[in-house]
Amino acid sequence: MPSESMDPRRRPSVAVRELRTDDWEAWSALRLSDSERLAPWDATPPPGGGETMNSFPVFVRRQTRRARLGEAMPLVVEVDGAFAGQIAVDPIIWGSTRSAQVGYWIGGSWQGSGIMRLSVAMVLDHLLGPVGLHRVEINVRPENVRSLALCRGLGLREEGLRRGYMHINGAWADHVSFAALAEEVHGPGGVGFQRRLTRR
Ligand SMILES: CC(C)(COP(=O)(O)OP(=O)(O)OC[C@H]1O[C@@H](n2cnc3c(N)ncnc32)[C@H](O)[C@@H]1OP(=O)(O)O)[C@@H](O)C(=O)NCCC(=O)NCCS
Repeated sequence: MPSESMDPRRRPSVAVRELRTDDWEAWSALRLSDSERLAPWDATPPPGGGETMNSFPVFVRRQTRRARLGEAMPLVVEVDGAFAGQIAVDPIIWGSTRSAQVGYWIGGSWQGSGIMRLSVAMVLDHLLGPVGLHRVEINVRPENVRSLALCRGLGLREEGLRRGYMHINGAWADHVSFAALAEEVHGPGGVGFQRRLTRR
């Protein structure tokens, strides 16, 4: 964690685990303190669809149910045991598609430290390896320079601009689409995302 009191030579311990209902306190404290920074990138329910934002316990219960069905993977990034951010693998589509979309956010204290890049690398390796997906996608608003840098830094393939792809912060927004295929990272000559980072 890049706090001033911390020894900068010490590497923090980074873990990715499932989201739980008892994350509520840490989650709400972080979302409250960082609301201004996160709001421009937050997905919102489009008007007229009848969907509303769920309370945290309802959200976690629904996501856990969907995780059991293999439809989503709600994850938490922990740094030195503290709740630092989230990674949402949602939706996961099986059948002849075998693909997933990945989204993420991290608290301001950890932003710019490479922790989210490492966490996303771990999740992509897991999805395209043991989970058995064929394709993962990350969609980023063209204005989101940090997220674009994260995807480019990982060497994800840029596939172009999707117009009005997602409803973000109250309006439909264009997104730059990044993707990776299992054979690109695990096939002959391919290396996993975590190994790509250690080769930098
Ligand atoms: C997007 C987000 C998760 C990125 O997290 P982060 O901590 O900055 O990411 P990392 O430090 O792991 O690395 C990201 C890259 O941004 C670079 N970066 C750091 N500061 C930067 C800045 N001010 N401007 C541009 N790029 C920057 C890093 O050097 C790194 O690039 P590299 O791989 O070429 O070295 C974080 O900014 C965030 O939570 N934003 C709000 C929510 C959000 O935008 N979610 C994503 C929606 S698609």
